[in-house]
Amino acid sequence: KGKLFAASGGELTPKRLDVNNTAWELLSNGGRALDAVEKGVIVVELDPEVHNVGYASYPDRNGIITLDASIMDETGNCGAVTFLQHIKTPIVVARKVMEKTPYVMLSGEGALEFALANGFKKEELHTEYSRQAYKEWQQSQKELPVDQHNHDTVTALAIDMDGNISGACSTSGIAFKRHGRVGDSPIIGAGLYVDNEVGGAGGTGVGEVIMKTLGSFSIVEKMRNGYTPQEACKEQVEYILKKVPDAENQPVYFIALNKQGEYGAYGTKGIFDFAVRSKKQENMLQRADTAI
Ligand code: GLY
Repeated sequence: KGKLFAASGGELTPKRLDVNNTAWELLSNGGRALDAVEKGVIVVELDPEVHNVGYASYPDRNGIITLDASIMDETGNCGAVTFLQHIKTPIVVARKVMEKTPYVMLSGEGALEFALANGFKKEELHTEYSRQAYKEWQQSQKELPVDQHNHDTVTALAIDMDGNISGACSTSGIAFKRHGRVGDSPIIGAGLYVDNEVGGAGGTGVGEVIMKTLGSFSIVEKMRNGYTPQEACKEQVEYILKKVPDAENQPVYFIALNKQGEYGAYGTKGIFDFAVRSKKQENMLQRADTAI
């Protein structure tokens, strides 16, 4: 019954397949989908070569690394952190918000305070590379056009042996963003949504566009109404292109997985690779179709 699906946009490396490998190992040993997506996303958060998720991310324009993450389980419970600093694995804090508080989201100082009270230690998120990248950006101080090199997110969806689905999403958003900017990834329904009766969806790309159109929730609702995951992702992207001014210049991508284990992925423009692992399918990168 186990089906695993994991995806991320941007500067993909084969190392990113480790999301699926990590999650699959848990799933094939009877583990819960929630643990699978969390552990899979942690791999990317801790990877010093990934600069748009977790540790070693590009900072904002003030030189500060701020992180967003969300997680959702098969019961519809969910947790999120936004604008979190000094913690390498925001997805773990998001899960603790879900499981240990009556809230869905904690932000900034409060999220950090909660993390520290729950056993996390303040850590340095900068590396030599991220400091150097910031110095270089300071020379120009430009608002970068969002593209695949300064923007990335990891989204993972999984179904476990009990047939339950969960999802997780983590990002540092746009490189050198304005201090305080938060994107779609920690917003339930925008960057991530899961409904155990239907399936799940996750977004990567320009968060503002996904937030304006509540992308992941909309895709799950389309699947509820009979669309395949691929049709649902495509329909949502077409809606975005009609609805959001200048969307044709904004990279936005979605992945979706239904409870039958069918999957889909679609984006506005550019290159978007994702990876799927199931009993029938080897773990490998696949290229998603795009509208433009
Ligand atoms: N999709 C991640 C962000 O825009 O922050």
